[in-house]
Amino acid sequence: MESSIRDPSLAPEGHRKMDWAARHSPVLDAVRGRYLEDGSLRDLGVAICLPIEAKTARLADVLAGAGARVAVAAPLPFVVQDDVAAALVERGVTVFASSESPPEEADRDLERALDAATADGEALLIDDRAALVRIAHTTRRGLLPRIRGASEETTSGVAKLRAMERGGELRFPCIAANDARCKHLFDNRYGTGQSALEAIMHATNLMFGGKRMVVAGYGWCGRGIARYAAGLGARVVVCEVDPVRGLEAYADGFEVLPALEAAGTGEIFVTATGNKGVLGREHFARMRDGAVLANAGGVDVEIDVEALRASASEVRRARRDVEEFVMPDGRSLFLVGRGMVVNLTAGDGHPVEIMDLTFAIQALCAHRLANEGTSLSPSVHLLPREIDDEVARIKLEAVGMGIDEITPEQRDFLESWRE
Ligand SMILES: NC(=O)c1ccc[n+]([C@@H]2O[C@H](COP(=O)([O-])OP(=O)(O)OC[C@H]3O[C@@H](n4cnc5c(N)ncnc54)[C@H](O)[C@@H]3O)[C@@H](O)[C@H]2O)c1
Repeated sequence: MESSIRDPSLAPEGHRKMDWAARHSPVLDAVRGRYLEDGSLRDLGVAICLPIEAKTARLADVLAGAGARVAVAAPLPFVVQDDVAAALVERGVTVFASSESPPEEADRDLERALDAATADGEALLIDDRAALVRIAHTTRRGLLPRIRGASEETTSGVAKLRAMERGGELRFPCIAANDARCKHLFDNRYGTGQSALEAIMHATNLMFGGKRMVVAGYGWCGRGIARYAAGLGARVVVCEVDPVRGLEAYADGFEVLPALEAAGTGEIFVTATGNKGVLGREHFARMRDGAVLANAGGVDVEIDVEALRASASEVRRARRDVEEFVMPDGRSLFLVGRGMVVNLTAGDGHPVEIMDLTFAIQALCAHRLANEGTSLSPSVHLLPREIDDEVARIKLEAVGMGIDEITPEQRDFLESWRE
């Protein structure tokens, strides 16, 4: 199938971005050398749904280099870098993505990626928010027998897969790549922590120091965001629904308040819950003039943008990635990156070194599905602990750090109860 992208002539800048990502991906390189050259991916289709930027492109390129027939589409046009899409096509990957596609046609591109990956035989899916899995179980059910399995990148996607498993609706094995320790401990926490703030800073050109910042959700992402914001001098308030997480935020030194109380005091709001309607009409009504709102969670409904639009008497563009919502009482609220995942819609995504870990995990999930997918049950699986350990070891080696080996006496001591 022919690729469909915005402009093939943009490829040179895309290659430069991919080369930069490659330079900082020692873990993915090591995984390629140790695992992917065994031929298990040769001639297998791989459909990838991920934001199209240099790091994801590097994963696609490495899988294609291992002999897979790779087809890529993005979950939304706002997370497509056209130069990278063009470079990928030049490197032999089939791409269905353009930053100018209407958002409502995103599913069409994902369907085309699924069709392309399964056209000549079996395929694996590397998925974001279970988008490809959803399509394979709805509008492309005919392709189900050709899908050997999927691996899922996000917390929100894994939650959806578990819901499908509970309902007895999942038809092929899925690996929860997100749940690998080398994924969520680093990607969700440090990756989102750094890149969400970076995107908000770049989009607004405002400082964090001294600002009262409200972080909704104190999971892996929220912890990272709160920690980085505090490092920049912000006065952080956390909102939670889980009392233990709320207490953890308190013990970490943050104020913990219900969202409606925090709404009146915050200057910058960042949601990272994976839940809907976390900031809505009643919160907007209490917010101060000039409040900045952004979402770093994986679902686009954490901030109720429709209600924000409906409450405003005027909406105008304040900066490239910032919309101003003028309220009838004269206050203005500023939304960064459309209320979608801000580090991608208004930024370059996670740091390269973080995605190196994440995509090393994804490449190992693909390798596992290629080799064992046919014998795994149609449920949600975790990567074995040894794989996580190996990825961490490779990274430690790459940064010139090392750890100790436990001695047999120490292992006996830990595992016995007599001593
Ligand atoms: N921006 C990114 O690049 C990026 C990276 C990784 C994950 N994510 C997404 O971020 C979201 C959070 O991921 P995570 O790994 O931190 O998940 P998590 O499950 O560890 O944390 C989510 C937290 O939000 C809390 N929460 C739920 N509803 C809430 C509400 N109404 N108000 C306040 N708190 C609420 C939960 O109690 C939980 O502590 C997911 O949607 C995930 O897919 C985004």
